[in-house]
Amino acid sequence: MGNCQINKRNIEHKIMKKRVLSGIQPTGSIHIGNYLGAMKHWVASQDKFDNIFCIVDLHSITVPQETGELRKKTRELAGLLLAIGIDPELSVVFVQSHVKEHTELTWILNCVTPLGWLQRMTQYKDKSARHEIISTGLLDYPVLMAADILIYESDYVPVGEDQKQHVELARDIAQRFNSMYGDVFVIPEPVIPRVGARIMGLDDPTCKMSKSETGQGHALYLLDSPDEIRMKIKRATTDSHRDILFNESRPGINNLLTIYELFSGKSRSEIEAHFQGKGYGVLKEELAELVIEGLKPLQERYREITADPAYLESMLKKGADKVRPIAEGVLRRVKDRIGLG
Ligand code: AMP
Ligand code: TRP
Repeated sequence: MGNCQINKRNIEHKIMKKRVLSGIQPTGSIHIGNYLGAMKHWVASQDKFDNIFCIVDLHSITVPQETGELRKKTRELAGLLLAIGIDPELSVVFVQSHVKEHTELTWILNCVTPLGWLQRMTQYKDKSARHEIISTGLLDYPVLMAADILIYESDYVPVGEDQKQHVELARDIAQRFNSMYGDVFVIPEPVIPRVGARIMGLDDPTCKMSKSETGQGHALYLLDSPDEIRMKIKRATTDSHRDILFNESRPGINNLLTIYELFSGKSRSEIEAHFQGKGYGVLKEELAELVIEGLKPLQERYREITADPAYLESMLKKGADKVRPIAEGVLRRVKDRIGLG
């Protein structure tokens, strides 16, 4: 009987649109690294897939948060997702803590995940070196992420380069569970963009642009004013060469050119030809204007959308109500397999 059910589900799974799931933390402010590395791609492929986008507030609390900020940031992020073009008719947007099944599945997955797998995660090693007190949640962070992915039978997980290792861990956990208890989980695939998967900090182009870096000139935020954008790009770290060429061994210029490429949609050779014989000052000025123009429509939409907080609230509630039955169904099958309940 078990096999019959599995076959039916796998067949249904193949007929339906493939499912895309991704998540983003409502911590700090959303920067162009998040946008170019992940969010922009969620919008671009929306009509091809069945999409679920999760605002992962439970991931945010793995490091201390200011009281009251998290709720505000969660709504701000929901507004930004709509402002960049996520369409609630095509995609579900919801808050992770509104669907409690994620945490229940996390516990179960914890029990099939060897501790060594988590201790090897590079993000854990980096973050734990930066905090004095390390919560158990920080170590367990990738298991919660695996639960987010597996509980919706997700096929594709579009993320920036830094999250690839976590998606691969989710695959390993799913495979381990399936081999212990029989096929329950769909094995997800990470989807990493060819360009823009790792946008670097403007102040230090050897480190990725990150929400947790608070240096003034580090990140370009989606809601930055034109003056802030001009100032940060003007001060961006470059090098002492003169020519403007894509070259990974020159991280400052390479990063600015990558941002230019993604905002302009032009090819690399067109861009290099355009800047031939020009100085870094010209590149910085043109890039600043390009980014300002590129962000303007989403900033305007953001202001319109957030003028109606009740709308955002109801969208988040509808989103959670829509995906909860999927999560309940998968969790029920998992518990049946193990013999829980
Ligand atoms: P987070 O800021 O950790 O919530 O990340 C949300 C999404 O943005 C994830 O898919 C990350 O991989 C992606 N991301 C974060 N920082 C960068 C960056 N500097 N460059 C490209 N993608 C990024
Ligand atoms: N850990 C991811 C990040 O920091 C966010 C995340 C949580 C996520 N759950 C997810 C991403 C599920 C993709 C799928 O970027």
